[in-house]
Amino acid sequence: MPTAPILITGASQRVGLHCAERLLDDGHPVIISYRSEREGLERLRERGALTLFADFSDEAGILAFIAVLKKHTDALRAIVHNASSWQADTPGQEAQAFAQMVSVHMLAPYLINLHCADLLHASPQADIVHISDDVARKGSSKHIAYCATKAGLDSLTLSFAAKYAPRIKVNGIAPALLMFNEDDDAAYRAKTLAKSAMGIEPGPQVVYQSLRYLMDNPYVTGTTLTVNGGRHVK
Ligand SMILES: NC(=O)c1ccc[n+]([C@@H]2O[C@H](COP(=O)([O-])OP(=O)(O)OC[C@H]3O[C@@H](n4cnc5c(N)ncnc54)[C@H](OP(=O)(O)O)[C@@H]3O)[C@@H](O)[C@H]2O)c1
Repeated sequence: MPTAPILITGASQRVGLHCAERLLDDGHPVIISYRSEREGLERLRERGALTLFADFSDEAGILAFIAVLKKHTDALRAIVHNASSWQADTPGQEAQAFAQMVSVHMLAPYLINLHCADLLHASPQADIVHISDDVARKGSSKHIAYCATKAGLDSLTLSFAAKYAPRIKVNGIAPALLMFNEDDDAAYRAKTLAKSAMGIEPGPQVVYQSLRYLMDNPYVTGTTLTVNGGRHVK
C-alpha cells in the first residue's frame, strides 16, 4: 500500500518549502498549502506535490481549506502546521493583529486537527507536528501577541497528544532563529546571533531533522522539541 501524503501548511517558501522538498527526496507524497503564489511552488508541482490554496485568516478560510483537502485525499501520514504570521505589536492595530495570529497559529491547527483526525486514522502511522517558536519559553516585549499565540500552539500539542494517543502522536518543534529575512540589517543579525550559545544561523534543515526524528520515533508524544542553539544556557 503506498504511504499516505504528508500535509505541510504555508510551505511555498523558506522552512516549509525546504521540508516539502526534503520529504519528496525521501519518497513521501506531499500536499502543501500556500497563500501567495511563489516561485518555489512550481518546483513542488513539477515533482508531483499537490499545492492547495489556503488563507487561515478566519474560520471560513480554514474550513474551506479542509473541505478542499478532503476532496483530494482520504488519508494523511502527517500534518505539519508550519504557516505563521510574524507581526509586531503595532499601536492602533493590536486587536486586528492579535486576532489574525490567533487564527493562523491556533484556530487553524485546532480545527484542522479536529476535522482531519479521520484522515490520520486511515494511515497506519500518524503524526501531527506544530511548528512553534522558542520565544514562547520566555516571552517577548516587542512581539507579545505573536508569542502568546505560539504559546497557545504549545498548549494544543499537550491536549491533542492526550486526546489522540496512542494512534496519533502529537509533538511540537520550537526553533529560535533559523533564517534571517532579506531585510534584516547587520546590527540586527549580530544581536540575534549573539543570543545563542552556538552563534549560528542554522538554516531550515534543523527543522527537517527534528521533523524526521519526531515522525520516526514511536515513543515521543506531547513533547515540544527545543531547537534554539542553546539560547537557554547563554
Ligand atoms: N524563520 C525563523 O527564523 C523562525 C524562527 C522561529 C520559529 N519559526 C517558525 O518556523 C515556521 C516556518 O518559518 P518561516 O520563516 O519559513 O515562515 P514564514 O515564511 O514567515 O511563513 C510561512 C508561510 O505562512 C504563510 N501564512 C501567513 N499567514 C497566513 C494565512 N493567514 N493563511 C495561510 N498562510 C499564511 C505565509 O504565506 P505567504 O506566502 O502568503 O506569505 C508563508 O509562506 C513558522 O511557524 C515560524 O513561526 C521560524
